[in-house]
Amino acid sequence: MEHQHIYRKGTSAEAPTLLLLHGTGGNEEDLLPLAEMVSPASNVLGVRGNVLENGMPRFFRRLAEGVFDVEDLVKRTQELHAFLDWAAEKYEFDRSRIVAIGYSNGANIAASLLFDRGDALQGAILHHPMVPLRDKTLPDLSGVPVFIAAGRRDPICPPQETEDLNELLSGAGADVKLHWENGGHQLSRSEVGMASSWFKEKFLQGEQR
Ligand code: MLT
Repeated sequence: MEHQHIYRKGTSAEAPTLLLLHGTGGNEEDLLPLAEMVSPASNVLGVRGNVLENGMPRFFRRLAEGVFDVEDLVKRTQELHAFLDWAAEKYEFDRSRIVAIGYSNGANIAASLLFDRGDALQGAILHHPMVPLRDKTLPDLSGVPVFIAAGRRDPICPPQETEDLNELLSGAGADVKLHWENGGHQLSRSEVGMASSWFKEKFLQGEQR
């Protein structure tokens, strides 16, 4: 299935392509300033979620806050995989070199991509993610770098949820860096700064930054 999206070709052929996944009520342009901070030379693919909740775009349905419609999540995750395959061909970027940047609902679908396939993403920056699916055997994620930013006072994503996600991803072999903020669910400039330094260390070593 198609996604409304924006694609900007970067100036570096070596830097990974950034996949931007917004929070509930956002759109494909929301996280462009993050891409600019994290890796200005990268190709950028900003995607809009196909589900509407009271007019607000999301990447999958939920039954209540924090209660996901698992069937829909599984379906939408497959659709996003297929969209990434299509986009890589259309825009001629390397499908195996996509790093997701997701916030909230967008971080949750990014985590779901990782839970589904070991080769879905080269890495991910997850701002305030939850555990997308419980009771799932994860694929081998050996060495896949994942940055998680979480808030100690996040009412939507309690700290235990973050710890669980960290444990699940690390248990599958992912190279997880967990960063705590003292605030709630909001995206802070300081966590984006930390994500940006982490990205440079993991993906842009030896390149001009
Ligand atoms: C979700 O539904 O994905 C999470 O509750 C976060 C949110 O989008 O509010």
